[in-house]
Amino acid sequence: MSNYKRTLITSALPYANGPVHIGHLAGVYVPADIYARYLRMKGEEVAFIGGSDEHGVPITIKAKNEGVTPQDVVDKYHNIIKDSFSRFGISFDVYSRTSAKVHHDTASEFFKKLYDEGKFIEKTSEQYYDEEAKQFLADRYIVGTCPKCGNEKAYGDQCEACGTSLNATDLINPKSTLSGNIPVMKETKHWYLPLDQYEPWLREWILEGHKEWKSNVYGQCKSWIDGGLNPRAVTRDLDWGVPVPVDGADGKVLYVWFDAPIGYISATKEWTADWTKWWKDPETRMLHFIGKDNIVFHCIIFPAMLKAEGTYILPENVPANEFLNLEGDKISTSRNWAVWLHEYLEEFPGKEDVLKYVLTANAPETKDNDFTWKDFQARNNNELVAILGNFINRALVLTQKYYNGVVPAAGELQDVDKDTLAQIVSLKADVEKSLDTFRFREALKIAMDMARLGNKYLADMEPWKVVKTDEERVKTIMNTCLQIAANLTIVFAPFLPFTMNKLRGFLNMDHLEWSELGRTDILLAGHKVKEPELLFEKIEDSVIETQIQKLQDTKKANEMAAVTAAPQKENCSYDDFSKMDIRVGTIIEAEKVAKTKKLLKLKIDTGIDQRTVVSGIAEYYEPEQVIGQQVCILVNLEPRELKGILSQGMILMAADADGALKFVSPVNAVKNGSEVK
Ligand code: MF3
Ligand code: ZN
Repeated sequence: MSNYKRTLITSALPYANGPVHIGHLAGVYVPADIYARYLRMKGEEVAFIGGSDEHGVPITIKAKNEGVTPQDVVDKYHNIIKDSFSRFGISFDVYSRTSAKVHHDTASEFFKKLYDEGKFIEKTSEQYYDEEAKQFLADRYIVGTCPKCGNEKAYGDQCEACGTSLNATDLINPKSTLSGNIPVMKETKHWYLPLDQYEPWLREWILEGHKEWKSNVYGQCKSWIDGGLNPRAVTRDLDWGVPVPVDGADGKVLYVWFDAPIGYISATKEWTADWTKWWKDPETRMLHFIGKDNIVFHCIIFPAMLKAEGTYILPENVPANEFLNLEGDKISTSRNWAVWLHEYLEEFPGKEDVLKYVLTANAPETKDNDFTWKDFQARNNNELVAILGNFINRALVLTQKYYNGVVPAAGELQDVDKDTLAQIVSLKADVEKSLDTFRFREALKIAMDMARLGNKYLADMEPWKVVKTDEERVKTIMNTCLQIAANLTIVFAPFLPFTMNKLRGFLNMDHLEWSELGRTDILLAGHKVKEPELLFEKIEDSVIETQIQKLQDTKKANEMAAVTAAPQKENCSYDDFSKMDIRVGTIIEAEKVAKTKKLLKLKIDTGIDQRTVVSGIAEYYEPEQVIGQQVCILVNLEPRELKGILSQGMILMAADADGALKFVSPVNAVKNGSEVK
C-alpha cells in the first residue's frame, strides 16, 4: 500500500511474568522504535503501541508459587518492563496493559459481537479436572511421567527433560499440582474460532496478496495454511483473564492469545479518543513487529478474528524477526540465561544507545543470531568509538582550534569535496531503501558508511597539514566536515537517539526532518558550535570479563541446581564409621576387564601392599589416563570375586548429577598408606 495516510505500529506485548531482556529488544522493540522514529522524522502520522500481556497460565503459576495474587505478579513486572523500555528510549505513544479496565471491556465486547453473530462454534470436550480444588486443570497444572523419557516431573504441555511437547493425556500417572490428587476427566464447553472456514480467504490474502512479506514470515504462513487449519478454542477454564461474557460461562476466561492482540486496540483507545481512525480507516497502514514464535497468531489467528468482526483493517506487513541467542545458548528466563535490561541499565549507565547499536548491527533479521560480550566490546570500540566518535571529535576539536567554534565559509569546492557530498545523497537513498523494507541492520551499516566517509575525507584532506600553507582551503575542508557531521545527526537519529541529541547539542542545531538529509548547507557560515565531549568511550577488557564471568556463574549455578541430592541415609555410630579403613593409594597399573564395558582391573599401591581392585569406572576413564592417579581406597572391605578376578578393596568415587564418576583424592599428594579419617 503506497498511498497510506498514517501508520499504526504495534509491538508484541511482553508477558508480565518476568523482566525483559536483550532478546526482546533485538527482536521487537528496537526495530519497531527505529521505524517509528524514522517515520516521525519524515513527518508521517504514526502511532507506536505497546503494553504488557498480563493474562495466561504461567502468571497464575508464578503467583501460586510465590504466594501472591496474579495481579501482584503483573503489577511488579509491568512496572519493571515499562521502566526499562522508557530508559532505553523506546518511544511508545502509549504503553498499556491487558489487566486495564479499558482492555477487559474491549476484549469482552469483541468476543460478544462474534458470539452474537454466530462466528464461533461451541464444542464440549473432556478435560482433566481436580475434584478437590474444584477446577479444570490447564496442561501446566498437571505433572506426571513422560511417556518418552520416563522423567517423573514432566508437565502436561511439555517434558523439560527431553523437550517433547505433550498433551496432558499423554502423561503416565498424572497428578494435579494444585492438590496432588489424580485428576478426573470431566466435560467442559468451549468456544472455537473455525479457522478452517477462513482458509480460502487466508490463502488469497497472504499467499497471493502478500508475497512481499519477509520470506521467514511468508514461509511459516504457507506451511500453516498448507498443513490445514483447525478450529481453535478461544476460551479456557481458568480464573485469571477476561471473563467470557456469556451466560453459563462461569469460571471461564478468554484464551490469552485471544485477548492479548486485542490489547493493541485497547491501548490505542487509552491513548486517543480518535482511535477508530487508526483501526477502521483503510488508509491506515498497520504493521506488527514481533518475534518468530508469534507469527501464527499475528498472521493467521488475529487477522481471522479481525475479519470475522468485520469492521477492522488488517495488517499490511508483519516484519517478524528470528531469535537472538546469548553466547551460543538459547536465551532462557527460567535458566536466567539472559542479559536483563534493568541490570544493563544499572551496569552500563549512559550506554543505552551502545546496546541498541550492537543489537541492530547484529539483528536476527533473517536467521537466529548470537550476542556475545566480545562482539559488543568490538563494535563499541572499533565502530562507535573509532569511526563515528572519532570523526565527530576531530571535526569539532579542529573547528574550535582554528575558528573558535565558528563555522567557516566554504570556498570553491574541489572535486573531492563534491564527490564526498554527493556520496551523502546516494547513501541517503540507500538507507531509505533499507529502512522502507525493514532491513534495519543494513540501514545501520549504511549510516555507519556515512561516518566512515567523513572519517576518510578528514584523514585524506589532512587539514592539520594544509593549514600551514593554504588557510582558505582549510575553511572549505572544515565546512565540509561540519556538514557531514550535521547529516550524521539525521541519519543516526532513528538508531542512536540519545547520542544524536548530544551531538545536536555540540553542533548547536535543531532536530531536523529526514528530508534535510543530504543537504550541504545545514550549518551556515558564522554559526557557532560548542566544545565537544566524547560521544562514546572505549570499553575495557575488564568490564567485558566481568560480564562473561557473571554468565559463567549462572551456568555453574544451573548445573548445581540440576543436581538433586539423594536423601540422607540413616545415622550410623562413630564406631560403625571407624570400622572402615580408608587409605590413600596410587594406581600403578590399569587394564580393561575383557568382555565387560564398565570394569577396569587396577593395581594399587596402598602403602601397605600392592593389590588388585576391580572398579566400575571404565565408562569414565581410559586405563592409560588413570595410572599415577592418587585415590581413596577402602582397604578392609571383604575381598570378592568379580569376573573371575579377586578384588581386594574398593575405590571411592563421587557420582555427578548425570551419574558420571570422578575420583575422590587428596587435594595435595600425600604418602601412600595415609589414613582417611
Ligand atoms: N506475550 C506474547 C509473547 O511474549 C506476545 C503477545 S503479542 C499480542 O510471546 F499480540 F498478543 F499482544
Ligand atoms: Zn521426557
